[in-house]
Amino acid sequence: MDQRIAVVTGANRGIGLEICRQLARRGVTVILTSRSAAKGRAAIKALGEAGTDVDYHLLDVTSPVSIKALAAHVARRYGRLDVLVNNAGVMLDPRGSRMVDAKPKTFRDTLETNFFGPLQLAQVFVPLMKKHRYGRIVNLSSGLGQLTDMGAGTPAYRVSKTSLNVLTRTLAAELNGTGILVNSMCPGWVKTRMGGPHAPRTVEQAAATAVWLATLPDDGPSGGFFRDRKPIPW
Ligand SMILES: NC(=O)c1ccc[n+]([C@@H]2O[C@H](COP(=O)([O-])OP(=O)(O)OC[C@H]3O[C@@H](n4cnc5c(N)ncnc54)[C@H](OP(=O)(O)O)[C@@H]3O)[C@@H](O)[C@H]2O)c1
Repeated sequence: MDQRIAVVTGANRGIGLEICRQLARRGVTVILTSRSAAKGRAAIKALGEAGTDVDYHLLDVTSPVSIKALAAHVARRYGRLDVLVNNAGVMLDPRGSRMVDAKPKTFRDTLETNFFGPLQLAQVFVPLMKKHRYGRIVNLSSGLGQLTDMGAGTPAYRVSKTSLNVLTRTLAAELNGTGILVNSMCPGWVKTRMGGPHAPRTVEQAAATAVWLATLPDDGPSGGFFRDRKPIPW
């Protein structure tokens, strides 16, 4: 098998950092990205031995200039991209926020990171994946974006994750038969800065499903939504 090359966004901490660790352990060449170079480099150090072959590149997913610079780096250095993990995410809704009085700016800012980032990353990397007829795109979504289980609270975050799921479904349909598999996943409620200290799940548990989707065999699923490797409703 060719050496696989993976980009992970928002990877300086939390679930993204653990995804890098698990992918690197499997022999994948990981490009760890973060919006702060200092934090990204510190994260690679924190990986210890697992970080030995991890590459680094700056990436603010809200900046088209930054996305283009990453794409140029990947094309120049590797000439291919096999795996894109859209992990970077924000939850900007103020505590107790409700749809009825939420600020439009909160929606716009949240969508910039959680939807437009993954959209533009897919737009720059799908052509490179198509060249080699191989690609795995993993979108870190959330149960809070499930229409079948939609409820009150964190309205901007919910809209952004439902939108991300639309990206997954439409991209998967467009790329049917190209060798590129696109899936969404919910990591569950995870102990990270976003999930808080009372969350019951570990980053190791959360990252396992992302790594499974990032390394699917050619006959693996596409256009699905998964938690703990099992399909869940949209
Ligand atoms: N934790 C949970 O319970 C949970 C549940 C469901 C879904 N998720 C999803 O899982 C993913 C990872 O969450 P997490 O819990 O690991 O969150 P986290 O600990 O808050 O980490 C989020 C990461 O995203 C990065 N980020 C934010 N905005 C960015 C931008 N504009 N450009 C690049 N990176 C950016 C952060 O970088 P900085 O350090 O620079 O801020 C950080 O590295 C997110 O998409 C989240 O929505 C999490």
